[in-house]
Amino acid sequence: MMNTKIKTLLTLGTTVACLQSVQAQTQGNSLKSAYQEDFLIGTALGTEHILERNEKANQLIKKEFNAITPENIMKSQLIHPEVDRYNFSLSDKFVDYGLKNQMYIVGHTLVWHSQLPSFVHKISSADSLRIFMKEHIKTVMGRYAGKINSWDVVNEALNEDGTYRKSIFFNKLGDSYIKEAFELAAQVDPKAELYYNDYNIEQPAKRKGAIALIKKLQENGVKINGVGIQGHWSINSNNLKDIEDSILEFSQMGLKVAFTELDLTVLPNPWDLRGADVNQRFKEDPKMNPYKDSLPDSVQNALANRYSELFKLFLKHKDKISRITFWGVDDRHSWLNGFPIPNRTNYPLLFDRALEPKKAYQSLISLKESK
Ligand code: G3I
Repeated sequence: MMNTKIKTLLTLGTTVACLQSVQAQTQGNSLKSAYQEDFLIGTALGTEHILERNEKANQLIKKEFNAITPENIMKSQLIHPEVDRYNFSLSDKFVDYGLKNQMYIVGHTLVWHSQLPSFVHKISSADSLRIFMKEHIKTVMGRYAGKINSWDVVNEALNEDGTYRKSIFFNKLGDSYIKEAFELAAQVDPKAELYYNDYNIEQPAKRKGAIALIKKLQENGVKINGVGIQGHWSINSNNLKDIEDSILEFSQMGLKVAFTELDLTVLPNPWDLRGADVNQRFKEDPKMNPYKDSLPDSVQNALANRYSELFKLFLKHKDKISRITFWGVDDRHSWLNGFPIPNRTNYPLLFDRALEPKKAYQSLISLKESK
């Protein structure tokens, strides 16, 4: 039997027949079936996946994952390119893909300082920015009300030291834009789960800022269901204690914890860069791209071990965790091939460039088989 947790997560607009179909699809060896008693297993879809251009990728996505997030196509620059013009062609297909495959659908993201349409940067008054933000939430979220299960309402509102990021929203509206965004989101689709999503919020200083931000919402009676810890980490990260502390502290606030953008870079990083600030870029250098042709076994093993350690921790706290989403389907499409140095060959996910499962994949399946 499919467990009640996954059932609840999939309830929105889902009939019993659909649930039976999900259950049928979860048979066999796959990530989503291995972890069906624990949490949802998601992936981020790009345009090629949404348009089902590659049948092998398409079969893999349907077999392995029961949750989907759009990697880019719902960001405001793409979905709302001009003041009065929205482009819903890909987002409609994304949502249809999730519905027809009975997947948990995540909307990413409503309010983010990055990838804004160019017209927003020309807005000078606070009132006009507020109107943009509110119209955007009403139009995008409203279109998929009852279909998208969960939204990243506000994304990356904090600096590394836990203070508010001086984004265009903060500069013009103060931190109340966060409250306004969540309040409106709760009205537009009362059934949707609402998340605050950020990177590095497992680290103590930034976590403290996230806790303060969320407490302020809760104290004002604003609906927030969960927190998304993105999880852009490295095979060398030594952060299990920070992650565990974060799971405990956020869940003690009554929040669901999701790992929303998990990937593990295997490449060197002499600048000690952490996280996912897309403004950070560095020049190309062959020394910084050591696995151009293939990944040595030692690194393949390190990746598998690191994923295994993380999932052991996730399983320990499965009662507090709603979803683990990988940021991409396979290594070839990962954003980490281009960040923070362009044109590198990275290996951060569970499936290789030929869409074959890696040792890391097997390590996560084995974790459940050994139970
Ligand atoms: O689609 C255009 C293409 O037409 C153009 O030729 C090309 C030239 O650079 O750019 C393409 O757009 C790129 C887009 O990804 C699609 O591939 C953008 O330049 C590039 O900046 C964009 O990067 C995305 C990044 O967010 C910035 O929005 C990454 O794919 C995406 O993985 C990443 O995801 C973010 C999450 O949304 C939030 N958390 C951090 C995470 C990683 O940065």
